Amino acid sequence: MIRHIDAIASRRDASLHIIKEDGIQGFGWGYPRDVADFIGSSIPYKSQRRAIKEVLCAMNGGSNIAFGAEEVGVRPEFRGRGAGKFLILKLVEDGQRQGRISLVWTRWDAVLAPICLNFGYTQVYGPEMCLREGGFELTGQILVGTHPRMSERVLFAAPR
Ligand SMILES: CC(C)(COP(=O)(O)OP(=O)(O)OC[C@H]1O[C@@H](n2cnc3c(N)ncnc32)[C@H](O)[C@@H]1OP(=O)(O)O)[C@@H](O)C(=O)NCCC(=O)NCCS
Repeated sequence: MIRHIDAIASRRDASLHIIKEDGIQGFGWGYPRDVADFIGSSIPYKSQRRAIKEVLCAMNGGSNIAFGAEEVGVRPEFRGRGAGKFLILKLVEDGQRQGRISLVWTRWDAVLAPICLNFGYTQVYGPEMCLREGGFELTGQILVGTHPRMSERVLFAAPR
């Protein structure tokens, strides 16, 4: 893991944010990467990958290099205090400083998904989510498709 983090930190324009309070309580990292790589095998169908790549590149001003928000994590005992939102916001800002959209893979039933919706991310893949008072709901529509074995998977893009 240390080697993995070192490799990420040495990438050009990479960001690593840490929340320190009596030790490390949370982290978030991301870096610019080709949209096609970011989607990679997470979407098994070529036609769907192509469709999403087109949408993302259009959102990204024609460029295929987006900012991939790769990992966000907060220690269980530190959760629910805004740290996760802070880290996500930092990664979106990093992408925006570089003039890039930020991309996040998550699951519709994970805490991160409503955070992305609240921050105005556009959902581009998976079971469509929509905000409602006090939470969110699934609209019943599917955006582009779903993964055959991980149908909860959703992909979000934050504006550049
Ligand atoms: C996702 C994660 C980073 C969120 O961190 P966090 O510090 O708890 O997030 P925040 O305190 O900023 O809370 C964000 C929102 O989620 C809500 N929330 C927090 N914990 C929740 C829970 N267990 N269930 C439902 N909602 C929850 C909060 O109410 C808040 O929304 P609100 O301010 O509109 O009420 C954290 O849950 C985590 O590390 N999860 C495991 C790793 C993971 O799933 N990472 C994401 C994939 S890479």
